[in-house]
Amino acid sequence: MTTTKLASSYGEYLKLPQLLDCQTTLTQAHDELQFIIVHQTAELWFKLMLFELESTRAAMLEGKLTQASHYLRRVQTLIKQLIAGFEVIETMRPYDFAQFRDFLNPASGVQSLQYREVEFLCGARDARYLSLWQGYARERLAKRAEEPTVWDAFIAVLRANGHDVGDEKQVVAAVIDILQREGNDDLGILAEQLIEFDEHFALWRNRHVQMVMRMIGAKPGTGQVSVAQLAEAGYSHMGTSGVDYLRTTLNRVFFPLLWEARTFVQR
Ligand code: HEM
Repeated sequence: MTTTKLASSYGEYLKLPQLLDCQTTLTQAHDELQFIIVHQTAELWFKLMLFELESTRAAMLEGKLTQASHYLRRVQTLIKQLIAGFEVIETMRPYDFAQFRDFLNPASGVQSLQYREVEFLCGARDARYLSLWQGYARERLAKRAEEPTVWDAFIAVLRANGHDVGDEKQVVAAVIDILQREGNDDLGILAEQLIEFDEHFALWRNRHVQMVMRMIGAKPGTGQVSVAQLAEAGYSHMGTSGVDYLRTTLNRVFFPLLWEARTFVQR
């Protein structure tokens, strides 16, 4: 463990002057400050999530299964924090949101680079999203598209544990084998942590779309320009509302073969 410099105070250690100077509202609307803070907090949680998922991947590649499950457990708690953020947002009425919404247009969560990095890191890699960024951000996402995914690392774990993983059928068979064991060993626990993560993330997507319906109904999203860019890149979706686009994301999962294996579990 190396340190570069010791902290002199709470405020200096946490860089609070800089951090607390980043909440610039565009209007006088009362609810804009909470809107900014909820989104900034989410981006901080995404930052930590990327770090923990990278650590999970590394632990799996090193064969440290208990450690990988430990990191994933933290990731589950982060998703719960993200979902709790929607409760804060929902203390705002649609009328309150309307007071400042036009001013933040065309900004939208669909432009969250870190969110997309999480998806790419976990294996949900839709190259059409690259069209939303230029320069450094695009390079960062393109790099994510090249590196091993969390799922790749799990496949490596299966292989290291003597399973054949040459094709998807074999992978499903390996997962069924793990799920049908009497006792729950390290590998079984890890497989459960992975599906729990996927499940929690799906809950975030569903909770977000529910909250969006409550806030803006069938209005176009502020990111409609970005969604149109996606459409130009070949991402087709029906309808014109923000919710129409979001609904196309609801079936997205990171580890489809973990889900598929469930169907075949028997006593
Ligand atoms: C009043 C609150 C919110 C509304 C009305 C809203 C609305 C929307 C809409 C309509 C979209 C689709 C793209 C578009 O047309 O703009 C979207 C995407 C997204 N939003 Fe929100 N959102 C809100 C709060 C949040 C919060 C608090 C987060 C936290 C991170 C968030 C994260 C995202 C992400 C990551 C996407 C991209 C989803 C994907 O492409 O799979 N949103 N949002």
